[in-house]
Amino acid sequence: MIRLENVTKQFGVVKAVDQVNLHITPGEFLVLIGPSGCGKTTTMKMINRLIDPSAGRILIKGKDISAEDPIQLRRQIGYAIQEIGLLPHMTIADNIALVPRLLKWPKKKQRQRVEELLEMVGLDAATFMHKYPRQLSGGQRQRVGVARALAVDPPIMLMDEPFGALDPITREQMQDEFIKLQEQVKKTIVFVTHDMDEALKFADRVAIMNHGKIIQCDSPEMILRRPANKFVRDFVGSDHTLKQLSLIKVKEAMITDIDTLHPDNTIAQAKELFKRGSSNIVVVAKTGEAIGYINREDLNKTPEDRFVSEITVNSISTVASDKTLKDALTVMLKNDAGYIAVSDENRKPVGLITSSRLRQIVSEPRLNSREEQ
Ligand SMILES: Nc1ncnc2c1ncn2[C@@H]1O[C@H](COP(=O)(O)OP(=O)(O)OP(=O)(O)O)[C@@H](O)[C@H]1O
Ligand SMILES: [Mg+2]
Repeated sequence: MIRLENVTKQFGVVKAVDQVNLHITPGEFLVLIGPSGCGKTTTMKMINRLIDPSAGRILIKGKDISAEDPIQLRRQIGYAIQEIGLLPHMTIADNIALVPRLLKWPKKKQRQRVEELLEMVGLDAATFMHKYPRQLSGGQRQRVGVARALAVDPPIMLMDEPFGALDPITREQMQDEFIKLQEQVKKTIVFVTHDMDEALKFADRVAIMNHGKIIQCDSPEMILRRPANKFVRDFVGSDHTLKQLSLIKVKEAMITDIDTLHPDNTIAQAKELFKRGSSNIVVVAKTGEAIGYINREDLNKTPEDRFVSEITVNSISTVASDKTLKDALTVMLKNDAGYIAVSDENRKPVGLITSSRLRQIVSEPRLNSREEQ
């Protein structure tokens, strides 16, 4: 979809981008990351010809973009920039419809698209359409920035720290919503950030830059497990084990062979389940939600005619199956629990994460960097 071949950009004596080669496939989510001034924005701006390379070439769908009309080119490339860049004297609706208006879409179609996009980024169209950027919070403005970039449904999106200005909580909400959005719209995305956690969350591949060069371009897992050199390892940070947990979905790691009982089942019935080979029993309420967990040891200490409710290690927490292991661990630590139930979208238990399962996952040794081998 996008191919950079030996691309260099020189500003006077500064090589902002130095011999970059990159091949981004259709539907791929590529994250560019690196320290301030390493050339991320410059790389991105060359893709939509806001900047032309000093050497090398860039192809989009196989065509050299230096031969293309920049305006025409930008119509197939949505661009959300670092400072949001909404025009202060225009309403939110006019800001979003900027490109559709240039393309002379009929008024009605423009309006429909604005409404659709506002809903898509989680803003109520009627409330926000006629407001001005200064009347919105930073987070709301960034949503509008994303909506505007999506306006003409471009196959390619360039996003330069689109969530940079947000507080950590809003940022995480926006990230989660954006992941859902991307699942629906499936664009080819080049996304700039300097936040490694954000990179690992989104990326199919992460390209780590330093001094204008790409140091390593790999899947998040490979970046964590096999950093190309000391720079990458230092950049990833020492908490790579935790970061690894943030890459694994609960549903991929959970223990799925669980049995369930109700609080008014008897101890005898629980014992029977264990005897038949069950190793994990989750206690569920009549509504189907997980409410507790049974320990095998407790079971043997209790008379058979008593009830499950009496030995239930109460208040098991639950985590949704599409969350990450890091989310699961956070809840476990908060509740000082060695296990957590995993629920599906109907809040029914579908699995279990235990501390020993987590240990097993992180104990796989990390590979040394290539340099050290
Ligand atoms: N128009 C310009 N003229 C001269 N130098 C420039 C210009 N634009 C960028 N540079 C220089 O090129 C280098 C790369 O800049 P760029 O904006 O691409 O960095 P970045 O990785 O996006 O940084 P940040 O994380 O701070 O946004 C920097 O040293 C910068 O000072
Ligand atoms: Mg930048």
